[in-house]
Amino acid sequence: MLDGQPVGMASGVPTDQDGVVELISMYVAPVGRGRGVGDRLVRAVEQWARQVAAVTLRLAVVEGNKNAWALYQRNGFRDAGELGDLMPDGVRREHIMAKSLTA
Ligand SMILES: CC(C)(COP(=O)(O)OP(=O)(O)OC[C@H]1O[C@@H](n2cnc3c(N)ncnc32)[C@H](O)[C@@H]1OP(=O)(O)O)[C@@H](O)C(=O)NCCC(=O)NCCS
Repeated sequence: MLDGQPVGMASGVPTDQDGVVELISMYVAPVGRGRGVGDRLVRAVEQWARQVAAVTLRLAVVEGNKNAWALYQRNGFRDAGELGDLMPDGVRREHIMAKSLTA
């Protein structure tokens, strides 16, 4: 929330793998960026993941999305070395990042 207005969203969803959940739909409106909203959204999804006893939180991020990479790295996510979907441009790919929740 920024001055009483919602400025961002993110979701946590189960996957078909036991103990693995996914962070999706991370978005902060331009007016709200650079204020820590992204950090708070990541933390909220991570809190939910721990509540449902997940051991791994995964996400997909497009190569070249520097702000998103920095946000996720700052929050303890690391490149899982796995490629995700091809983007609609047919060139760029998503990369999978993951964070262990067992430590
Ligand atoms: C990626 C995205 C979610 C980041 O959101 P954000 O709210 O700007 O992220 P944060 O505020 O947590 O961090 C951004 C920067 O602000 C800085 N920051 C954090 N709190 C701050 C504060 N109180 N005051 C000023 N700057 C602050 C962070 O240090 C960070 O700086 P850096 O980029 O130099 O490392 C946002 O840019 C976005 O929605 N982009 C479009 C959609 C998208 O790419 N989604 C991700 C798909 S994988």
